[in-house]
Amino acid sequence: MGKDKKITLIIGGGIAAYKSLELIRLLQNAHIEVIPILTKSAENFVTTLSLAAISKKKVYSHLFDLNDETEMGHIQLSRVSDLIVVAPATANLISKMANGLADDLASTLILATNKKVLIAPSMNVQMWNKPATLSNVKKLKEYGFLFIGPNTGDMACGEFGLGRMAEPSEIKDKIMASFQNNTLLNKKILVTSGPTVERIDPIRFISNNSSGLQGTAIANALVNLGAEVVFVTGPTNVSHPIGAKIIPIESAKDMYKAVFSNGPYDVAICAAAVSDWHVQNDSSRKIKKKDSNSKPNIELKENPDILADLSKSKNRPGLVIGFAAETEQLTKNAKEKLISKGCDLIVANKVEKKSSIFGAKNNEVTIITNDYMEKWPEMTKTEIGEKLGQLIVKYCH
Ligand code: CTP
Repeated sequence: MGKDKKITLIIGGGIAAYKSLELIRLLQNAHIEVIPILTKSAENFVTTLSLAAISKKKVYSHLFDLNDETEMGHIQLSRVSDLIVVAPATANLISKMANGLADDLASTLILATNKKVLIAPSMNVQMWNKPATLSNVKKLKEYGFLFIGPNTGDMACGEFGLGRMAEPSEIKDKIMASFQNNTLLNKKILVTSGPTVERIDPIRFISNNSSGLQGTAIANALVNLGAEVVFVTGPTNVSHPIGAKIIPIESAKDMYKAVFSNGPYDVAICAAAVSDWHVQNDSSRKIKKKDSNSKPNIELKENPDILADLSKSKNRPGLVIGFAAETEQLTKNAKEKLISKGCDLIVANKVEKKSSIFGAKNNEVTIITNDYMEKWPEMTKTEIGEKLGQLIVKYCH
């Protein structure tokens, strides 16, 4: 990345405004120049002086300031940077942006800009969930504004929920991704990954060998292409992809709920090894040998099929990708899966008895669609993730 990237950072009047100081520091370390702009209400949370000291830049705040306008007018200010970032973006600022209001420097600049705008919302969970806010956000997304967060967590007001501003490091990563390669910018992509765990009792469970390596590699590749990635993962030992929205789950039913409550998606990739069954009569107490005549009666019930239901859902993603791990008749079984599940593409891999793909660094996959089939040579799972990312870019354009 060159050293000449520049962003305009609009700081709204929310409690998360103090985090803008850390964001500026992170961006400076990444050689990104920051022009800070404070809204009037933000001045209650951070001072012009502290911002100027950290950014080593003039801090702009008022629309009709004679000195500012002669130095750099508001139109010029809206053009000099490569990206405009609004962090924290309050409900009020979001509403102004969605409705084209221009009654202060920040909102005027956003209306006047010819650059992409990245919004990091920050507000109370109730404010975020109000139909007015949600419809403003929807509108802005349709207009091409980019979003990061909000995250779920503890709030300054003592409540818990969705509305916390994304962490400065996440915002920085999103900014970097948008500079590096933005071919999937504005695409919301689901990746399911890892195994699911189906409880028998508090001590025992049914699961499988999935390491989550392939799903994580795919999510990383998609984040690097600028996509908004929702990563729903079963328990694994792999580090989660940075810059994705991480939703850790345990069972297939949890995964199903997480998938369908975070959509709709432009693209869905179901890389998880979902357990086919759950224990219908799972016990809240440890099953003792003496209570079960040494052979417990475990009743299995089929889990819902996430991939199949996504493929036939009302808000079906434009591209749905499934995986097929088979021990025999790889292409025949994978083709059958493509049809029975109604997805657009299957990534098929053979599971050999001896050299298991689970947890391995490399894999050899075959890409199967309705009208073509391509065997990729053995490569690392990271490379498979990147190659699949390029395939998704082709589908999306
Ligand atoms: N899958 C899913 N939900 C399930 C089962 C599977 O989303 N309940 C998805 C997997 O993520 C994968 C694809 O379906 O993308 C195929 O999974 P696989 O386990 O190979 O196939 P099954 O449908 O379970 O069929 P079988 O076990 O009979 O091969």
